Amino acid sequence: MLAILESAHTMLTNAPPFPDKADAPARCYALIPCAGSGSRAGTAQPKQYQSIAGARLIDHTVDAFLGVPALAGVGVVVAPEDVVYTSPHARVRVWHVGGATRAHSVFNGLLALQGAGARPHDWVLVHDAARCLVRPAEVEALIRACINDSVGGLLAVPVPDTLKRADCKGRAEQTVDRVDVWQAQTPQMFRVSTLWSALEAQSAEGFAGITDEASAVERTGLTPLLVRGSAQNFKVTYPEDFALAEAVLQSRRATNQREDNK
Ligand code: CTP
Ligand code: MG
Repeated sequence: MLAILESAHTMLTNAPPFPDKADAPARCYALIPCAGSGSRAGTAQPKQYQSIAGARLIDHTVDAFLGVPALAGVGVVVAPEDVVYTSPHARVRVWHVGGATRAHSVFNGLLALQGAGARPHDWVLVHDAARCLVRPAEVEALIRACINDSVGGLLAVPVPDTLKRADCKGRAEQTVDRVDVWQAQTPQMFRVSTLWSALEAQSAEGFAGITDEASAVERTGLTPLLVRGSAQNFKVTYPEDFALAEAVLQSRRATNQREDNK
């Protein structure tokens, strides 16, 4: 099975596998779905290639993961026809296996990751390319919280606002109790085997209703750990989100410069 995956990987990508030994302890990999069209963002090109604070969204995202020494490699899943994204980093692989939905892209990327040498007991941290404000410290906090967990988990924040259920006329029908409600973010960290079987079980239904990795894992009866993240790790989705992301990045840069000058 592994030999088939490895030769498929070489054919697909022309890239060498991540260096690893078969008996090495469990490793952590990042997998970044980057094959969306960004239809809600209102940009001419897919939003992950928009420039903010001097670099493309995807470059900020990948840099955050390259800042985590515990990660053995970073796989970026782009659309099959994508000729835009390449990476000069030795720890990054680019796989042209994006699919029709985010779940398809992650599923295909997980196959490529296994072809590149990831084993069933290794961990994979799936992260949206569009969450370019994630910081290495948050990724490391997720790894610390999940590495000894039997299921795995995800970054998330408790919902701060009062929630309303709308009727079909767009009027507030009901206030929803938010006491146990969290907003899911990424990265989401699971064993390769856990995520692979959870997604495989949903593939026949075209991954209907699978909007993140945890939703697939939950359907197997497992309960992913919610690890408190930061509200700054939002997903750039709408036109107004670019200015907010830019402001956050500029403010972090100014803080870092002040620290350096001390
Ligand atoms: N994604 C992907 N493959 C898809 C759809 C989405 O890899 N077929 C990726 C996006 O590139 C993004 C992440 O999944 O980094 C989260 O998805 P979302 O924010 O919904 O991005 P888009 O689908 O590109 O945007 P939209 O839904 O507005 O079209
Ligand atoms: Mg989408």
